[in-house]
Amino acid sequence: MPIYRTMSSIQQWTTSLQGLDSLELSEATKPTPSTGEVLVEIHAVSLNYRDFEVCSGEYTHHRSVSQDKPSLVPCSDMCGVITEVGDGVKHWMVGDRVLSTFLPGHQTGQVTEEMMASGIGLPQPGVLAKYRAFPEHALVRAPSYLTDEEASTLPIASVTAWMSINGMRPMGQNGGAGEYVLLQGTGGVAIAGLQIGKASGAKVIITSSSDEKLEQAMQLGADHTINYRTNPNWEEEVTRWTGGHGADIILETGGAQTLRKSFDCIAWGGLIDCIGYLSGKVDAPEDRTNVNLLALRRNVTLKGIINGPKDRFEEMIAFYEKHRIKPVVNRVFSFNEAPDAFKFLANGSHFGKVVVKVA
Ligand SMILES: NC(=O)c1ccc[n+]([C@@H]2O[C@H](COP(=O)([O-])OP(=O)(O)OC[C@H]3O[C@@H](n4cnc5c(N)ncnc54)[C@H](OP(=O)(O)O)[C@@H]3O)[C@@H](O)[C@H]2O)c1
Repeated sequence: MPIYRTMSSIQQWTTSLQGLDSLELSEATKPTPSTGEVLVEIHAVSLNYRDFEVCSGEYTHHRSVSQDKPSLVPCSDMCGVITEVGDGVKHWMVGDRVLSTFLPGHQTGQVTEEMMASGIGLPQPGVLAKYRAFPEHALVRAPSYLTDEEASTLPIASVTAWMSINGMRPMGQNGGAGEYVLLQGTGGVAIAGLQIGKASGAKVIITSSSDEKLEQAMQLGADHTINYRTNPNWEEEVTRWTGGHGADIILETGGAQTLRKSFDCIAWGGLIDCIGYLSGKVDAPEDRTNVNLLALRRNVTLKGIINGPKDRFEEMIAFYEKHRIKPVVNRVFSFNEAPDAFKFLANGSHFGKVVVKVA
């Protein structure tokens, strides 16, 4: 059936959280900004693994994030331009180019359970739409040297990588120089970690299931690459290549099948950032990881990561601007092709980020 549009209606994608086949293009009333809000014309939306999980009804590991949604606009990461400013808005003007933040309630410090309720793209409506109204505190200024598509990738993937490398250091004391940083796979978080690590002066090791992707990682500056399919004991290779030292920081995006290996190649006093679960959320009973002893064994810090606060996002943007880091956009889909973009992401053949061009 054709969709008829009026001046006050906009297009948006919605999901009933029942799988990617439940994604539906629909019409909605164009939002008007309330007091303290701005209206953003969305130009580009970057997909995250989380968005695939949300659409599939599998983003269930935060008890405070309600799944009880008959219909939801998915996705959290966008770059767009402010087209209307509500009463009382102090920091933004029409024409400003902005980025969303994943948890607008998380402005500084550690994340809390209450802040999870502000999550864009679950439980709050997301950004896979032509327009969205945002409270003014929910946005950061987009770096001018990046395209809309590149800039849209920063809120989740880059901020998560930034916090994994720098979140344990005080603001303004960004480190990494001379440290060994280990990245797992070549998805959005890992490739952002590679770029941040290299710009910081770290020695970066990256794993992948694909030699072709490892070659791409080398071109981005990776110091050492390991194929985790052909070399399943990659933790031994990390230990060998670092001369027995191990990795100082590990961005643990693998989860169930990688954490034990990470404990076996972490440096003494090193940091394992628990970020993701691409190899599963739950250990097989025979692989049970005795985290208590493993953490104690080398005086390891195990840190759960949920993205990062707005002030650290802005700190990261200043770092990106200084080093002119260009996020890696692997493929751009049109707005109408959004379901194909999700399938492409879920299939895991990408290197870096997958983006939907909206405007
Ligand atoms: N906690 C947070 O704040 C946060 C933020 C962002 C993401 N995450 C989580 O972190 C994970 C990564 O997110 P992402 O956005 O980077 O995902 P992504 O872009 O979808 O990454 C996919 C890539 O991960 C790699 N991979 C798959 N299985 C793997 C395994 N068994 N071991 C190592 N690598 C594997 C593959 O790389 P190759 O093809 O190169 O093998 C695959 O292409 C997800 O679980 C996501 O939910 C958490």
